Amino acid sequence: MGKPVPRIREAVSPRPGPRVHRVRDAAATAAAKSPHTPAPLHVTTCAKVNLSLEIIRRREDGYHEIETIFQSIDLADAIEIELTSDARIEIECTDASIPTDERNLCHRAIVAMRPVAGASLGARMRIEKRIPSGAGLGGGSGNAAGILLAVCRGLRLDVDPEKLARIGATLGSDVPFFLHGGTMLGRGRGELLTPMEPLKQGVFVVVKPEVSIPTPWAYAQPTFGLTSHRPRLNLRAANSVLARFPRSALPFRNALEAAVVPAFPAVARLLEELLSEQPCFASMTGSGSAVYAIFTHEDRAVEVARRFAQRGLFASVAKPTRQAIEIR
Ligand code: C5P
Repeated sequence: MGKPVPRIREAVSPRPGPRVHRVRDAAATAAAKSPHTPAPLHVTTCAKVNLSLEIIRRREDGYHEIETIFQSIDLADAIEIELTSDARIEIECTDASIPTDERNLCHRAIVAMRPVAGASLGARMRIEKRIPSGAGLGGGSGNAAGILLAVCRGLRLDVDPEKLARIGATLGSDVPFFLHGGTMLGRGRGELLTPMEPLKQGVFVVVKPEVSIPTPWAYAQPTFGLTSHRPRLNLRAANSVLARFPRSALPFRNALEAAVVPAFPAVARLLEELLSEQPCFASMTGSGSAVYAIFTHEDRAVEVARRFAQRGLFASVAKPTRQAIEIR
């Protein structure tokens, strides 16, 4: 679980008349107190994999109601951020394929924090990408969650965790998960979270084919089956399996594989290859295109990852984490 985030202080107008609650411009106040540029914060944001993903139904709002088990892993991006009070947002990113303008989730995260931090909130940041995008690893969502927490930390804002999660959910369905990390059940569109038994063992090999898959494409395919049976996930049974892993096998699947695998032979091939290495478990993560396998021994995972990397593919060894964001 993430560190509890304290509540935001809202200033009450001292003037007589109706009591007006207004948001203190925390960014401007911080700048007035210290005319020097605030010290940069170093934010590490983990990737996630979905240990399980079932699609329950299509909703009226276009999203799908899902039931998924998120797991954060220590494959992580690093963001250096300086908060400013000039309402400017400047982003530098080591991955040239990622937009650095208002489409960037970190940019949107700063804008989303202005109602609580003040209209003058700005930031200068440098994102060092290690998590491939279009991979189902939640890299952008993790970055956004990291920025939300960095603003709270940097400006000493006391934001109610539920409010922060609501802000996060406006940026992406899995942003609320990244505010916590660890092993979590996600319901609704993925934002309704229940902590699960943490996965303590297992070493992940994450491999991404050349192709990237946009999440909306995967969810728009009619080829995945809906999980209409009730009761759906048995939380107690799933927790007991997680607690005993790898002694007990994970009885999970990713329903989006049924849409992605036939359309992307490269994903199908990588999954087959990973399975032939006889891991404890292998699956696609999220809407792909990355796939992963879990091994019991690190040296075996390193050996398998090296073989994929030698072919020029993204391949990384990672361990499960209890938190998704670290701020120094
Ligand atoms: O919430 P996020 O921005 O990550 O979602 C991207 C897209 O993925 C949505 O616009 C929607 O098409 C699809 N999606 C969905 N059901 C979910 C999550 C995402 O249909 N639970």
